[in-house]
Amino acid sequence: MLAAKSLLPIQSLVPLSIFLFLASLTWTTSNSRSSNNTPPGPVSIPIFGNWLQVGNDLNHRFLTSMANKYGSVFLLRLGARNLVVVSDPKLASEVLHTQGVEFGSRPRNVVFDIFTGNGQDMVFTVYGEHWRKMRRIMTLPFFTNKVVQQYRETWEEEMDAVVEDLRGNKRAQEEGMVIRRRLQLMLYNIMYRMMFDARFESESDPLFLQATRFNSERSRLAQSFEYNYGDFIPILRPFLRGYLNKCRDLQSRRLAFFNNNYVEKRRKVMATNGDRNKLRCAVDHILEAEKNGEISSENVIYIVENINVAAIETTLWSMEWAIAELVNHPTVQAKLRGEIADVLGEEPVTESNLHKLPYLQAVVKETLRLHSPIPLLVPHMNLEEAKLGGYTIPKGSKVVVNAWWLANNPEWWDKPEEFRPERFLKEEMDVDAVVGGKVDFRFMPFGVGRRSCPGIILALPILGLIVGKLVRNFELVPPPGVDKIDVSEKGGQFSLHIATHSVIAFRPIAA
Ligand code: HEM
Repeated sequence: MLAAKSLLPIQSLVPLSIFLFLASLTWTTSNSRSSNNTPPGPVSIPIFGNWLQVGNDLNHRFLTSMANKYGSVFLLRLGARNLVVVSDPKLASEVLHTQGVEFGSRPRNVVFDIFTGNGQDMVFTVYGEHWRKMRRIMTLPFFTNKVVQQYRETWEEEMDAVVEDLRGNKRAQEEGMVIRRRLQLMLYNIMYRMMFDARFESESDPLFLQATRFNSERSRLAQSFEYNYGDFIPILRPFLRGYLNKCRDLQSRRLAFFNNNYVEKRRKVMATNGDRNKLRCAVDHILEAEKNGEISSENVIYIVENINVAAIETTLWSMEWAIAELVNHPTVQAKLRGEIADVLGEEPVTESNLHKLPYLQAVVKETLRLHSPIPLLVPHMNLEEAKLGGYTIPKGSKVVVNAWWLANNPEWWDKPEEFRPERFLKEEMDVDAVVGGKVDFRFMPFGVGRRSCPGIILALPILGLIVGKLVRNFELVPPPGVDKIDVSEKGGQFSLHIATHSVIAFRPIAA
């Protein structure tokens, strides 16, 4: 059993000892699970459930080890919350596809309630009318091929600017640099141009500094395990007051930042231009929906908040992983450069020629397979009691699909721990990562079904483009004196990124 101290702040220890005493009086046995036919799992105690045994960090690797013990669907009781973990492609297809409606809702927690205004957004809202409306309204301005065609040149422009900066940066070429910050600026520009027709001048642009600070603090507070105790055990919630106030304070300043600097500006532009105005960027479409009475002004701001989180961080993490793996696998890198040279000759890497580069696409897929940024997908929830794999899933359970394990289980993949893009051109050549492609429930870094990632249509070309452009222009190597880039992971409630932002040296290749 884990030390309670590591799970709780010190001030909670007195009430905790009282609970522990109460709990020790009445251990429930695993028989109680079989009597109500819920999935197997460790024996739980009242009030705490399994929390003291399993701890806070319920990451994809830990949940895999539990699946090996309890099976492909198991249940953990975390205080007042039930967590159901699915680790098998057939059951995953039940949750995401066959019973997609039943399991199509989202659980929230005390912190996500604050960051989503109790589900006024799209990503974390319950399955129902509001979600359907939000997803429909967001699709046209963000998630269609027309959007890709409209913006691909601006993406390429932002990426070519990164290449130019690196070509002019002797230090990055010789000693190396942390590339993350420059890629972050590039991605903010890609997304903010699409969203608001706005961009940041440089990494020291005051608005860029504010936006990145607000968003990273939001992610830190939301993805931390620090607040689990108050979320799982309602009676401990008063101890969480300080944390929740910090979240509320951040959220109100952050939303005001988006509103005052971006949304209001677009409102003014639209009001001034009147009918002559053509809808220039995504938020103009969203404001039009607000004007038509379809959504509220709060919904508008939560759409902006969702894109800031869902679009930028996931894509940035994937870029960092891809680059790190290419540095650690120089043969893969050389082969990729060879493909680009053979297929494109002097032509630049552009969105319109990505389809001619199968090895580049395999590199992107292999990165997402080995390092899924959302390894457990965004948690799902059943609004009503449901059946899964012959078990009863209690109403309101948090249901996670261990997508990382489905993509890394040696029973289903040849040497899954190896970074080997070739697998997607050989034994796994039928496994797609394309919009509307054939679904393989072993490989779904973007999820599948109703709540799957609509951003896949943007993320895949953006990833392919930046990786292709960097490899074409530079030899990516570790900094002097370093052999391998550290690719250890750091996870949160459901996020996964590289633990140490890599220093990479970019040796220019003669144009
Ligand atoms: C490499 C990049 C990305 C990865 C790996 C990724 C992954 C995911 C995953 C796993 C989900 C949850 C699926 C589920 O619960 O079944 C999701 C949801 C979502 N993603 Fe992405 N995503 C990426 C990029 C993007 C981008 C670029 C955008 C927007 C421009 C975006 C917008 C969303 C939204 C709005 C949802 C919520 C969908 C819903 O609840 O209906 N994502 N993403």
